[in-house]
Amino acid sequence: AAKAFGNRSRLQFTGIKAVAKTVDDVTVPRGYTWEPIIRWGDPLFKDSVEFDPENQTPQSQAGQFGYNNDYLDIIEIPGSRGKRAVLFSNHEYTNEPIMFPATMSASDVRKTAMAAHGLTVVELERRGKGQPWKYVRGAKLNRRFLIDTEYELTGPAAGSDLLKTKADATGRKVLGTLNNCAGGTTPWGTVLSGEENFNQYFKAASPTAEQRRYGITDANPSRGWHQEEVRFDLGTEDGRNEENRFGWIVEVDPFDPTSTPRKHTALGRFKHEGANVIIAESGHAVAYSGDDERFDYLYKFVSKGKYVEGDKTHNMTLLTEGDLYVAKFVGDAPKNQIDGSGTLPSDGGFDGVGMWLPLVQNGASMVEGMSVEQVLVYTRLAADKAGGTKMDRPEDVEINPRTGKVYMACTNNTNRAKGTNPGVDEANPRKENKNGHVIEIDELGEQDSLAFTWNILLMAGDPAVDKNVYFAGYPADEVQPISCPDNLAFDAAGNLWISTDGQPGTIGRNDGLFRVTLEGPQRGKLEQFMAVPAEAETCGPLIHDEDGLVFVAVQHPGEDGKWDAQTSMFPDYVKAGSKPGKGKAALPRPSVIQMYKG
Ligand code: FEO
Ligand code: CA
Ligand code: CA
Ligand code: CA
Repeated sequence: AAKAFGNRSRLQFTGIKAVAKTVDDVTVPRGYTWEPIIRWGDPLFKDSVEFDPENQTPQSQAGQFGYNNDYLDIIEIPGSRGKRAVLFSNHEYTNEPIMFPATMSASDVRKTAMAAHGLTVVELERRGKGQPWKYVRGAKLNRRFLIDTEYELTGPAAGSDLLKTKADATGRKVLGTLNNCAGGTTPWGTVLSGEENFNQYFKAASPTAEQRRYGITDANPSRGWHQEEVRFDLGTEDGRNEENRFGWIVEVDPFDPTSTPRKHTALGRFKHEGANVIIAESGHAVAYSGDDERFDYLYKFVSKGKYVEGDKTHNMTLLTEGDLYVAKFVGDAPKNQIDGSGTLPSDGGFDGVGMWLPLVQNGASMVEGMSVEQVLVYTRLAADKAGGTKMDRPEDVEINPRTGKVYMACTNNTNRAKGTNPGVDEANPRKENKNGHVIEIDELGEQDSLAFTWNILLMAGDPAVDKNVYFAGYPADEVQPISCPDNLAFDAAGNLWISTDGQPGTIGRNDGLFRVTLEGPQRGKLEQFMAVPAEAETCGPLIHDEDGLVFVAVQHPGEDGKWDAQTSMFPDYVKAGSKPGKGKAALPRPSVIQMYKG
């Protein structure tokens, strides 16, 4: 049962007003300051080459922080008295037109962009608790994971014929990770990272039904990686099955720089936004993960093994075996009241009950006509057969550590009820949903329960223009507009924090970070903490409120620019209009930033 508590966060701030989309600056509350901790191109190792935007190479990029940081965590190093930490971030994708001079060869662009993907672990240091962090070049835990880094496949589908390639007859060893989006940090101290839109890297002459269900088309992939590595061409012998080796949850031990990162097949293969784990009272690890696609699903994994406090080696086996479920949401309002307008039904809320429909249980497939290996590799097809509820793009799914309730950001779905597409339902009640919503899920009984109740906590939008914007009943005219909720986080007091991706296109405001009070009389009160600069997305929010620090990963600043016509100068703000050049870095650099009073 949920414990009741008020908003007692030590992080005090006066919310900012929404920021126009033309503002190329980080906006923070009065009295706060911000600065980058690490930027695209910052050198990680003693022998790394300094960032030199006009002369980047695959080799220099491999020793530097990658592009488009997304997931973020900062984990204190035990015994360091708050003075040292590891920062984990992943690098989702690249924006080549603003990264590289037009004179660079196409092949060098491709190879350097490949080296800007992957993951980074880097050590941080500071004078003590409550102080801002600096990254430590050459620290012993620093690590880059690149497109040729070896990953081990685990779980029931590892070694399956579906995962074998010409280069890997074992079906257990994958090189690289693609399109790393959100993630989660496990209770045992490892980091999870979701492989999301991996389809865009593959060329296929005549895609199979399975490939099409994952978004692989016969269009030539614009990044052209298949011209560098033939495995990205699925029509070749080298490419056969290669796409099946992406779309997984990756687990990394940031404290062991020699460890082999793993891809866990037991959690299924789809466009994982990320995954977050909580230990149920029964001891089983429960992971929630959204598939970020229009009309795709929410999933839950329950480990076979049980968590053992302090036994990291054992706990690192928990995601290798267990049951996998897809969510079905059933509303309780009269059907004719869910009319696509977003008007609340007569019972006062969009809510109902839900079931976790089994895909794999006790090691057996629960989906007719599919083996366990097929269910795990073609999880979307299995969920279609099982009858999960087709959602409005499930992004981050996070568990409130204070209550165990689960929050899912459905970022938007402009195709809902359009043409022959699926219509509205009570969990996705808006036709052509451009602003998105956030669903609150309460498991019935234990965390590994097979049934839940749910309600829509927040129907995003601009209350000034949309009367159906809804903030859990809080007066909508007293909150800030919000659109396209994407990443979620919690502070120590149990408040929900939401970061957005897409506000410039929907409500004409820069994306930002918002706090929502969840419990007590102020439930639904939404305050904006910060806004990112022009054309950027707010990723990886991390709220260390007891330390007075808030962090975000600023992704794709100035993404609509060109090399010679940059539209953002974040975070260095060298003189606008100056040409990109060595040392001047007159171009945007995706960066992890910290915000604090001072
Ligand atoms: Fe990479 Fe669903 O955001
Ligand atoms: Ca993104
Ligand atoms: Ca995202
Ligand atoms: Ca998004």
